[in-house]
Amino acid sequence: MNNQQQIFDQKIEKDISIEPKDWMPDAYRKTLIRQIGQHAHSEVVGMLPEGNWITRAPTLKRKAVLMAKVQDEAGHALYLYSAAETLGADRDDMMDKLIAGRMKYSSIFNYPTLSWADVAAIGWLVDGAAIVNQVALCRTSYGPYARAMVRVCKEESFHQRQGFEAMMQLANGTPEQKQLAQDAVNRFWWPALMMFGPSDDNSPNSAQSMQWKVKLFSNDDLRQKFVDNTVSQVLQLGLTVPDPDLKFNEDTGHYQFGEINWDEFFAILAGKGPCNHERIEARRKAWEGGKWVRDSAAVYAQKQQQQSQAQKVA
Ligand code: 3HC
Repeated sequence: MNNQQQIFDQKIEKDISIEPKDWMPDAYRKTLIRQIGQHAHSEVVGMLPEGNWITRAPTLKRKAVLMAKVQDEAGHALYLYSAAETLGADRDDMMDKLIAGRMKYSSIFNYPTLSWADVAAIGWLVDGAAIVNQVALCRTSYGPYARAMVRVCKEESFHQRQGFEAMMQLANGTPEQKQLAQDAVNRFWWPALMMFGPSDDNSPNSAQSMQWKVKLFSNDDLRQKFVDNTVSQVLQLGLTVPDPDLKFNEDTGHYQFGEINWDEFFAILAGKGPCNHERIEARRKAWEGGKWVRDSAAVYAQKQQQQSQAQKVA
């Protein structure tokens, strides 16, 4: 084993973070670019189902909160793209791959938001699931990714709370509003569980990622944590979990839950979900439509650089 590999292994073992200028195995760099890039894309695509409701939010307060949340997600994407760039990834290349279907984004954002209650459910359940995953990532072995996650988690907790509060208002409202809330839970419960990825015995990247401490917990462990955290919240809202097999196991202290529809999950990953096409089309249009801004910014930056060089010479 070469010396650089030994230093890398020792850092991983001792929980010393790996930094951009440190030597790292090519496969470690590649897996991080894959995961951080997908994570960044999820933040960007995740703005679409909620952004769709900004003009239809029921009150001015809800509109302001939703706008702030959607902007936060854009900010998360920027930290994450920057973290991927510290590994040598190119942002334009990542965008091209997303639009060409060669990079993934979270399965959850391929479902439509049919009612205002779906927006509340996304804030509560989807951001709630994201927090469970991302709190663990605050200690991931790659420094820039871990540090980005600390700030992201603070904002995601606010998102989760505002989602729960919006849900609570619906659940305590008229019978029709309560039904909207229940329908949203019925639609988003299982997709939220799928966000944690395939089961451990079917997760090709987990073993290596856990050895490198890129991932600190397995997909199934984090999914279980989410279920354990969230069932009591559903009950507190006076709603039900759409899972006839759900029961609390006194011996393990955990909720047992039914089988996830993995066919649906893998169909979505293959681009066959209800909104896959629409989401990618929206990203393609935004990327092409924003070209003039990127070009102008590049010309401006070049001119600024030339001016400051000319001033130095003078
Ligand atoms: N949606 C889409 N693809 C998924 C997925 C999901 N829910 N779960 C797994 N996959 C993909 C993996 O990316 C991998 O594909 P690839 O090899 O082509 O890259 C394949 O399915 C096999 O899964 P593995 O379990 O082997 O993959 P990982 O070890 O990477 O684990 C993961 C998957 C748990 C999602 C991990 O990548 C991870 O923790 N990522 C960071 C968190 C993240 O991306 N969160 C996005 C959530 S949304 C969000 O944060 C936005 C906020 O606003 C709510």
